Amino acid sequence: MSFSNRKILLAVTGGIAVYKALELTRLFKKQGADVRVVMTKSATAFVQPLSFQALSGHSVHFELLDTEAENAMGHIELARWADVFVIAPATANTLAKMAHGLADDLVSTLYLAATCSVYVAPAMNHAMWNHPATQANLKILQTHGVNFIAPESGEQACGEIGMGRMAEPETICRGVLQTPAHYDSFRYAGGCNLPLPLQKSGVCKTPLRIIITAGATREPLDPVRYLTNRSSGKMGYALAVAAQQAGANVTLISGVTHSAPPLNCHFIQIETAEQMHAAVFENLENCDIFIGAAAVADYRPIVCGDEKIKKNANQITLTLQKNPDILANVAALDSPPFTVGFAAETHDLEIYAREKLTRKKLNMIAANWVGRDEGGFERDENALEVFWQDGQQSFPMIEKSTLAEQLMALIAERFHAPK
Ligand code: C5P
Repeated sequence: MSFSNRKILLAVTGGIAVYKALELTRLFKKQGADVRVVMTKSATAFVQPLSFQALSGHSVHFELLDTEAENAMGHIELARWADVFVIAPATANTLAKMAHGLADDLVSTLYLAATCSVYVAPAMNHAMWNHPATQANLKILQTHGVNFIAPESGEQACGEIGMGRMAEPETICRGVLQTPAHYDSFRYAGGCNLPLPLQKSGVCKTPLRIIITAGATREPLDPVRYLTNRSSGKMGYALAVAAQQAGANVTLISGVTHSAPPLNCHFIQIETAEQMHAAVFENLENCDIFIGAAAVADYRPIVCGDEKIKKNANQITLTLQKNPDILANVAALDSPPFTVGFAAETHDLEIYAREKLTRKKLNMIAANWVGRDEGGFERDENALEVFWQDGQQSFPMIEKSTLAEQLMALIAERFHAPK
Protein backbone atom coordinates (compact mmCIF):
# COMPACT_ATOMS: atom_id res chain seq x y z
CA MET A 1 0.00 0.00 0.00
CA SER A 2 1.28 3.51 -0.73
CA PHE A 3 -0.05 7.01 -1.20
CA SER A 4 0.04 6.82 -5.03
CA ASN A 5 -2.44 9.32 -6.41
CA ARG A 6 -3.64 10.39 -2.95
CA LYS A 7 -3.93 14.14 -2.56
CA ILE A 8 -2.75 15.23 0.87
CA LEU A 9 -3.46 18.71 2.19
CA LEU A 10 -0.95 19.35 5.00
CA ALA A 11 -1.72 22.19 7.41
CA VAL A 12 1.23 23.37 9.48
CA THR A 13 0.47 25.44 12.57
CA GLY A 14 2.88 27.37 14.76
CA GLY A 15 5.03 25.41 17.17
CA ILE A 16 8.62 24.32 17.44
CA ALA A 17 7.64 20.98 15.84
CA VAL A 18 7.15 22.78 12.47
CA TYR A 19 10.60 21.59 11.43
CA LYS A 20 9.34 17.99 11.66
CA ALA A 21 6.58 18.82 9.14
CA LEU A 22 9.32 19.31 6.51
CA GLU A 23 10.34 15.67 6.95
CA LEU A 24 6.66 14.66 6.93
CA THR A 25 6.19 16.42 3.57
CA ARG A 26 9.21 14.54 2.21
CA LEU A 27 7.86 11.19 3.49
CA PHE A 28 4.41 11.76 1.97
CA LYS A 29 6.02 12.64 -1.37
CA LYS A 30 8.28 9.58 -1.17
CA GLN A 31 5.16 7.42 -0.80
CA GLY A 32 3.77 8.87 -4.04
CA ALA A 33 1.33 11.46 -2.65
CA ASP A 34 0.59 14.84 -4.18
CA VAL A 35 1.10 17.25 -1.27
CA ARG A 36 -0.07 20.85 -0.88
CA VAL A 37 0.92 22.79 2.20
CA VAL A 38 -0.97 25.52 4.05
CA MET A 39 0.51 27.35 7.02
CA THR A 40 -0.71 29.61 9.79
CA LYS A 41 1.04 32.97 10.22
CA SER A 42 2.83 31.77 13.35
CA ALA A 43 4.09 28.62 11.58
CA THR A 44 5.86 30.85 9.04
CA ALA A 45 7.80 32.39 11.94
CA PHE A 46 9.44 29.00 12.56
CA VAL A 47 10.12 27.83 8.98
CA GLN A 48 10.04 29.75 5.70
CA PRO A 49 7.17 28.71 3.36
CA LEU A 50 9.81 28.39 0.64
CA SER A 51 11.17 25.23 2.31
CA PHE A 52 7.72 23.57 2.07
CA GLN A 53 7.33 24.84 -1.50
CA ALA A 54 10.64 23.23 -2.47
CA LEU A 55 9.69 19.89 -0.87
CA SER A 56 6.06 19.76 -2.05
CA GLY A 57 6.61 21.25 -5.50
CA HIS A 58 3.63 23.62 -5.02
CA SER A 59 3.38 27.14 -3.71
CA VAL A 60 2.34 27.38 -0.07
CA HIS A 61 -0.93 29.02 0.97
CA PHE A 62 -1.20 30.99 4.19
CA GLU A 63 -3.68 33.82 3.61
CA LEU A 64 -7.41 33.22 3.74
CA LEU A 65 -8.19 36.20 1.56
CA ASP A 66 -5.22 36.47 -0.74
CA THR A 67 -6.50 37.53 -4.19
CA GLU A 68 -3.67 35.83 -6.04
CA ALA A 69 -3.94 32.55 -4.15
CA GLU A 70 -7.73 32.56 -4.35
CA ASN A 71 -7.47 32.95 -8.12
CA ALA A 72 -5.09 29.99 -8.43
CA MET A 73 -6.66 27.67 -5.87
CA GLY A 74 -8.91 29.20 -3.26
CA HIS A 75 -9.79 27.67 0.09
CA ILE A 76 -12.90 25.90 -1.18
CA GLU A 77 -11.02 24.38 -4.13
CA LEU A 78 -8.21 23.28 -1.80
CA ALA A 79 -10.71 21.64 0.53
CA ARG A 80 -12.42 19.90 -2.40
CA TRP A 81 -9.10 18.87 -3.91
CA ALA A 82 -7.89 16.97 -0.81
CA ASP A 83 -8.37 13.22 -0.27
CA VAL A 84 -6.85 13.55 3.20
CA PHE A 85 -6.37 16.59 5.45
CA VAL A 86 -3.43 16.33 7.86
CA ILE A 87 -2.76 18.97 10.52
CA ALA A 88 0.77 18.56 11.89
CA PRO A 89 1.81 20.10 14.17
CA ALA A 90 -1.60 21.07 15.55
CA THR A 91 -1.37 23.69 18.30
CA ALA A 92 -3.78 23.98 21.24
CA ASN A 93 -5.09 27.18 19.62
CA THR A 94 -5.88 25.52 16.27
CA LEU A 95 -7.46 22.51 18.02
CA ALA A 96 -9.67 24.89 20.02
CA LYS A 97 -10.75 26.75 16.87
CA MET A 98 -11.51 23.48 15.09
CA ALA A 99 -13.51 22.13 18.03
CA HIS A 100 -15.67 25.25 18.19
CA GLY A 101 -16.09 25.88 14.49
CA LEU A 102 -14.16 29.14 14.28
CA ALA A 103 -12.91 30.05 10.83
CA ASP A 104 -10.69 33.10 11.17
CA ASP A 105 -7.68 31.85 9.21
CA LEU A 106 -6.98 29.55 6.29
CA VAL A 107 -6.31 26.37 8.36
CA SER A 108 -9.44 26.59 10.53
CA THR A 109 -11.56 27.52 7.49
CA LEU A 110 -10.22 24.54 5.55
CA TYR A 111 -11.12 22.27 8.47
CA LEU A 112 -14.76 23.36 8.17
CA ALA A 113 -14.75 23.21 4.37
CA ALA A 114 -13.07 19.81 3.99
CA THR A 115 -15.26 16.72 3.87
CA CYS A 116 -12.42 14.18 3.57
CA SER A 117 -10.84 12.32 6.50
CA VAL A 118 -8.80 14.45 8.89
CA TYR A 119 -5.62 13.49 10.79
CA VAL A 120 -4.31 15.62 13.59
CA ALA A 121 -0.88 15.38 15.24
CA PRO A 122 -1.05 17.63 18.32
CA ALA A 123 2.09 19.33 19.62
CA MET A 124 2.26 21.50 22.71
CA ASN A 125 3.73 21.94 26.18
CA HIS A 126 2.58 19.19 28.57
CA ALA A 127 0.64 21.57 30.83
CA MET A 128 -1.29 22.86 27.80
CA TRP A 129 -1.94 19.26 26.68
CA ASN A 130 -3.22 18.26 30.11
CA HIS A 131 -5.38 21.35 30.56
CA PRO A 132 -9.09 20.43 30.83
CA ALA A 133 -9.86 22.88 27.98
CA THR A 134 -7.55 21.04 25.56
CA GLN A 135 -8.74 17.61 26.71
CA ALA A 136 -12.37 18.70 26.25
CA ASN A 137 -11.56 20.03 22.75
CA LEU A 138 -9.96 16.69 21.82
CA LYS A 139 -13.14 14.90 22.87
CA ILE A 140 -15.26 17.25 20.75
CA LEU A 141 -12.99 16.72 17.75
CA GLN A 142 -13.29 12.98 18.21
CA THR A 143 -17.04 13.31 17.78
CA HIS A 144 -16.33 15.06 14.45
CA GLY A 145 -14.53 11.92 13.29
CA VAL A 146 -11.01 13.36 13.55
CA ASN A 147 -8.18 10.81 13.72
CA PHE A 148 -5.50 11.63 16.26
CA ILE A 149 -1.89 10.63 16.02
CA ALA A 150 -0.98 10.69 19.67
CA PRO A 151 1.78 12.98 20.90
CA GLU A 152 4.68 11.38 22.71
CA SER A 153 6.01 11.80 26.19
CA GLY A 154 9.55 13.02 26.76
CA GLU A 155 11.75 16.07 26.94
CA GLN A 156 10.07 19.09 25.41
CA ALA A 157 11.48 22.15 23.64
CA CYS A 158 10.70 24.20 26.77
CA GLY A 159 13.06 21.94 28.74
CA GLU A 160 10.26 20.31 30.73
CA ILE A 161 9.37 16.63 30.55
CA GLY A 162 5.88 15.37 29.81
CA MET A 163 3.25 14.49 27.23
CA GLY A 164 2.77 16.72 24.21
CA ARG A 165 5.78 16.29 21.93
CA MET A 166 4.58 15.76 18.35
CA ALA A 167 4.78 12.17 17.09
CA GLU A 168 7.72 11.46 14.80
CA PRO A 169 7.08 12.07 11.06
CA GLU A 170 7.39 8.30 10.35
CA THR A 171 4.66 7.59 12.93
CA ILE A 172 2.35 10.23 11.44
CA CYS A 173 3.01 8.96 7.92
CA ARG A 174 2.31 5.39 9.02
CA GLY A 175 -0.86 6.51 10.83
CA VAL A 176 -2.22 8.13 7.66
CA LEU A 177 -0.97 5.34 5.41
CA GLN A 178 -2.51 2.54 7.39
CA THR A 179 -6.04 3.80 6.83
CA PRO A 180 -6.95 2.43 3.42
CA ALA A 181 -7.87 5.01 0.77
CA HIS A 182 -11.49 3.81 0.74
CA TYR A 183 -11.92 5.33 4.22
CA ASP A 184 -11.06 8.82 2.90
CA SER A 185 -14.67 9.88 2.35
CA PHE A 186 -16.02 8.23 5.50
CA ARG A 187 -15.33 11.03 7.93
CA TYR A 188 -18.95 11.64 8.86
CA ALA A 189 -20.03 8.03 8.49
CA GLY A 190 -17.96 7.20 11.55
CA GLY A 191 -15.59 4.92 9.61
CA CYS A 192 -12.54 6.76 10.87
CA ASN A 193 -13.83 7.53 14.32
CA LEU A 194 -13.61 3.97 15.58
CA PRO A 195 -10.23 2.65 16.62
CA LEU A 196 -8.79 0.15 14.16
CA PRO A 197 -8.66 -3.43 15.55
CA LEU A 198 -5.05 -3.08 16.70
CA GLN A 199 -5.31 0.35 18.30
CA LYS A 200 -6.02 1.19 21.93
CA SER A 201 -9.32 2.98 22.37
CA GLY A 202 -9.38 6.46 23.93
CA VAL A 203 -9.16 9.98 22.60
CA CYS A 204 -5.89 9.24 20.85
CA LYS A 205 -6.03 5.90 19.13
CA THR A 206 -2.55 4.76 20.09
CA PRO A 207 -1.31 1.80 18.03
CA LEU A 208 -0.68 -1.48 19.79
CA ARG A 209 3.00 -2.53 19.67
CA ILE A 210 3.49 -5.85 17.90
CA ILE A 211 6.68 -7.82 17.43
CA ILE A 212 6.67 -10.45 14.69
CA THR A 213 9.49 -12.89 13.99
CA ALA A 214 9.72 -14.28 10.46
CA GLY A 215 11.78 -16.44 8.13
CA ALA A 216 14.37 -19.10 8.78
CA THR A 217 17.48 -18.67 10.90
CA ARG A 218 20.92 -19.64 9.59
CA GLU A 219 23.22 -21.53 11.95
CA PRO A 220 26.82 -21.35 10.71
CA LEU A 221 28.98 -24.45 10.39
CA ASP A 222 32.04 -22.68 9.02
CA PRO A 223 32.58 -19.34 7.24
CA VAL A 224 30.74 -20.51 4.09
CA ARG A 225 28.12 -23.05 5.20
CA TYR A 226 25.10 -22.99 7.47
CA LEU A 227 22.13 -25.11 8.60
CA THR A 228 18.72 -23.69 7.76
CA ASN A 229 15.18 -24.73 6.71
CA ARG A 230 12.66 -24.11 3.95
CA SER A 231 10.79 -21.18 5.54
CA SER A 232 10.41 -18.25 3.09
CA GLY A 233 9.22 -15.70 5.67
CA LYS A 234 6.17 -14.92 3.49
CA MET A 235 3.63 -15.61 6.27
CA GLY A 236 5.46 -13.43 8.82
CA TYR A 237 5.85 -10.58 6.31
CA ALA A 238 2.15 -10.82 5.35
CA LEU A 239 1.28 -10.67 9.07
CA ALA A 240 3.42 -7.53 9.46
CA VAL A 241 1.50 -5.82 6.62
CA ALA A 242 -1.87 -6.96 8.00
CA ALA A 243 -0.96 -5.76 11.51
CA GLN A 244 -0.01 -2.32 10.16
CA GLN A 245 -3.26 -2.09 8.24
CA ALA A 246 -5.12 -2.95 11.44
CA GLY A 247 -3.47 0.00 13.18
CA ALA A 248 -0.46 -1.57 14.92
CA ASN A 249 3.07 -0.31 15.29
CA VAL A 250 5.08 -3.26 13.99
CA THR A 251 8.62 -4.46 14.64
CA LEU A 252 9.55 -7.25 12.23
CA ILE A 253 12.58 -9.34 13.24
CA SER A 254 13.53 -11.51 10.34
CA GLY A 255 16.03 -14.02 9.10
CA VAL A 256 17.42 -13.58 5.58
CA THR A 257 14.58 -13.86 3.02
CA HIS A 258 13.89 -12.95 -0.61
CA SER A 259 11.05 -10.57 0.40
CA ALA A 260 11.35 -6.80 0.75
CA PRO A 261 10.45 -5.63 4.25
CA PRO A 262 7.07 -3.86 4.46
CA LEU A 263 7.26 -0.06 4.31
CA ASN A 264 7.16 1.86 7.58
CA CYS A 265 7.71 -1.05 9.93
CA HIS A 266 10.69 -1.24 12.26
CA PHE A 267 12.71 -3.92 10.50
CA ILE A 268 15.57 -5.83 12.10
CA GLN A 269 17.51 -8.39 10.09
CA ILE A 270 19.29 -11.21 11.90
CA GLU A 271 20.89 -14.49 10.87
CA THR A 272 21.05 -16.87 13.82
CA ALA A 273 18.54 -17.98 16.47
CA GLU A 274 20.69 -16.41 19.17
CA GLN A 275 20.69 -13.06 17.31
CA MET A 276 16.89 -13.30 16.91
CA HIS A 277 16.55 -14.03 20.63
CA ALA A 278 18.69 -10.97 21.50
CA ALA A 279 16.80 -8.69 19.05
CA VAL A 280 13.42 -9.79 20.46
CA PHE A 281 14.45 -9.18 24.07
CA GLU A 282 16.01 -5.78 23.23
CA ASN A 283 12.68 -4.66 21.73
CA LEU A 284 10.16 -6.17 24.15
CA GLU A 285 9.47 -3.03 26.20
CA ASN A 286 5.78 -2.03 25.94
CA CYS A 287 5.13 -4.89 23.52
CA ASP A 288 1.41 -5.75 23.50
CA ILE A 289 1.46 -8.74 21.14
CA PHE A 290 4.30 -11.11 20.20
CA ILE A 291 3.90 -13.38 17.17
CA GLY A 292 6.56 -16.04 16.62
CA ALA A 293 6.14 -16.85 12.93
CA ALA A 294 9.84 -17.56 12.37
CA ALA A 295 11.10 -21.07 11.71
CA VAL A 296 13.84 -20.86 14.31
CA ALA A 297 16.48 -23.60 14.11
CA ASP A 298 16.08 -25.84 17.14
CA TYR A 299 19.83 -26.61 17.19
CA ARG A 300 23.06 -24.90 16.12
CA PRO A 301 26.50 -26.41 15.47
CA ILE A 302 28.40 -26.34 18.75
CA VAL A 303 31.52 -25.08 17.02
CA CYS A 304 31.86 -22.83 14.01
CA GLY A 305 35.50 -22.74 12.98
CA ASP A 306 37.24 -19.81 11.26
CA GLU A 307 38.27 -22.08 8.40
CA LYS A 308 36.24 -23.98 5.82
CA ILE A 309 35.71 -27.66 6.72
CA LYS A 310 37.85 -29.77 4.34
CA LYS A 311 36.40 -32.83 2.62
CA ASN A 312 39.09 -35.26 3.74
CA ALA A 313 37.17 -37.72 5.90
CA ASN A 314 34.47 -40.06 4.50
CA GLN A 315 32.20 -39.26 7.43
CA ILE A 316 32.08 -36.33 9.78
CA THR A 317 29.98 -35.81 12.88
CA LEU A 318 28.32 -32.55 13.78
CA THR A 319 27.55 -31.89 17.41
CA LEU A 320 24.57 -29.60 17.86
CA GLN A 321 23.56 -27.42 20.78
CA LYS A 322 19.92 -26.63 21.53
CA ASN A 323 18.94 -23.01 20.74
CA PRO A 324 16.96 -20.87 23.20
CA ASP A 325 13.21 -21.12 22.60
CA ILE A 326 12.37 -17.46 21.93
CA LEU A 327 8.60 -17.90 22.03
CA ALA A 328 8.62 -19.90 25.29
CA ASN A 329 11.00 -17.40 26.90
CA VAL A 330 8.76 -14.47 25.94
CA ALA A 331 5.66 -16.27 27.27
CA ALA A 332 7.49 -17.08 30.52
CA LEU A 333 8.06 -13.39 31.38
CA ASP A 334 6.38 -12.02 34.52
CA SER A 335 3.99 -9.90 32.48
CA PRO A 336 4.24 -11.32 28.98
CA PRO A 337 2.66 -9.79 25.90
CA PHE A 338 -0.25 -11.64 24.26
CA THR A 339 1.81 -14.45 22.75
CA VAL A 340 1.03 -16.27 19.51
CA GLY A 341 3.08 -19.21 18.24
CA PHE A 342 3.17 -21.22 15.05
CA ALA A 343 3.48 -24.98 14.73
CA ALA A 344 4.48 -26.60 11.46
CA GLU A 345 3.66 -30.31 11.70
CA THR A 346 3.90 -33.32 9.42
CA HIS A 347 1.46 -35.43 11.53
CA ASP A 348 -0.91 -35.31 14.55
CA LEU A 349 -1.34 -31.56 14.01
CA GLU A 350 -3.91 -30.85 16.73
CA ILE A 351 -2.21 -32.99 19.40
CA TYR A 352 1.19 -31.35 18.90
CA ALA A 353 -0.26 -27.85 18.54
CA ARG A 354 -2.32 -28.10 21.73
CA GLU A 355 0.65 -29.60 23.60
CA LYS A 356 2.80 -26.58 22.55
CA LEU A 357 0.04 -24.15 23.50
CA THR A 358 0.04 -25.52 27.05
CA ARG A 359 3.76 -26.29 27.51
CA LYS A 360 4.93 -22.91 26.18
CA LYS A 361 2.08 -21.06 28.00
CA LEU A 362 0.89 -19.34 24.80
CA ASN A 363 -2.32 -17.39 24.29
CA MET A 364 -2.79 -18.83 20.83
CA ILE A 365 -1.14 -21.19 18.35
CA ALA A 366 -1.54 -21.34 14.56
CA ALA A 367 -0.76 -24.78 13.19
CA ASN A 368 -0.21 -25.79 9.60
CA TRP A 369 0.66 -28.93 7.72
CA VAL A 370 4.10 -29.12 6.13
CA GLY A 371 5.70 -31.72 3.89
CA ARG A 372 2.47 -32.10 1.89
CA ASP A 373 1.78 -31.13 -1.71
CA GLU A 374 0.14 -27.78 -1.07
CA GLY A 375 0.62 -24.83 1.22
CA GLY A 376 3.15 -24.27 4.00
CA PHE A 377 6.81 -23.43 3.49
CA GLU A 378 7.89 -21.59 0.31
CA ARG A 379 4.27 -21.37 -0.99
CA ASP A 380 2.07 -18.32 -1.57
CA GLU A 381 -0.95 -20.06 -0.04
CA ASN A 382 -1.52 -21.66 3.32
CA ALA A 383 -4.23 -23.12 5.56
CA LEU A 384 -4.22 -22.87 9.35
CA GLU A 385 -5.83 -24.51 12.36
CA VAL A 386 -5.76 -22.01 15.21
CA PHE A 387 -6.13 -23.09 18.83
CA TRP A 388 -6.49 -21.18 22.09
CA GLN A 389 -7.40 -22.39 25.56
CA ASP A 390 -11.14 -22.59 25.04
CA GLY A 391 -11.57 -22.41 21.31
CA GLN A 392 -10.33 -23.13 17.83
CA GLN A 393 -10.87 -21.88 14.30
CA SER A 394 -10.01 -23.32 10.86
CA PHE A 395 -8.77 -21.15 8.01
CA PRO A 396 -8.99 -22.99 4.68
CA MET A 397 -6.30 -22.80 1.98
CA ILE A 398 -6.05 -19.21 0.74
CA GLU A 399 -3.40 -16.66 -0.27
CA LYS A 400 -1.07 -15.84 2.62
CA SER A 401 -1.87 -12.08 2.42
CA THR A 402 -5.62 -12.76 2.90
CA LEU A 403 -4.95 -15.42 5.51
CA ALA A 404 -2.75 -12.96 7.42
CA GLU A 405 -5.59 -10.38 7.48
CA GLN A 406 -8.03 -13.02 8.79
CA LEU A 407 -5.59 -14.31 11.41
CA MET A 408 -4.77 -10.76 12.54
CA ALA A 409 -8.49 -10.04 12.96
CA LEU A 410 -8.78 -13.15 15.17
CA ILE A 411 -5.69 -12.16 17.18
CA ALA A 412 -7.18 -8.67 17.71
CA GLU A 413 -10.49 -10.21 18.81
CA ARG A 414 -8.81 -12.58 21.30
CA PHE A 415 -6.46 -9.80 22.53
CA HIS A 416 -9.42 -7.51 23.32
CA ALA A 417 -11.62 -10.34 24.71
CA PRO A 418 -12.32 -9.99 28.46
CA LYS A 419 -9.67 -11.97 30.37
O1 C5P B 1 8.56 -26.12 19.40
P1 C5P B 1 8.45 -25.66 17.99
O2 C5P B 1 9.78 -25.23 17.41
O3 C5P B 1 7.73 -26.57 17.05
O4 C5P B 1 7.52 -24.36 18.10
C1 C5P B 1 7.30 -23.53 17.01
C2 C5P B 1 7.04 -22.14 17.51
O5 C5P B 1 8.07 -21.75 18.41
C3 C5P B 1 7.08 -21.09 16.40
O6 C5P B 1 6.19 -20.06 16.75
C4 C5P B 1 8.53 -20.60 16.43
O7 C5P B 1 8.64 -19.27 15.93
C5 C5P B 1 8.85 -20.68 17.90
N1 C5P B 1 10.25 -20.99 18.21
C6 C5P B 1 11.03 -20.04 18.83
N2 C5P B 1 12.33 -20.35 19.18
C7 C5P B 1 12.84 -21.56 18.91
C8 C5P B 1 12.06 -22.54 18.29
C9 C5P B 1 10.76 -22.22 17.95
O8 C5P B 1 10.57 -18.92 19.06
N3 C5P B 1 14.09 -21.81 19.26
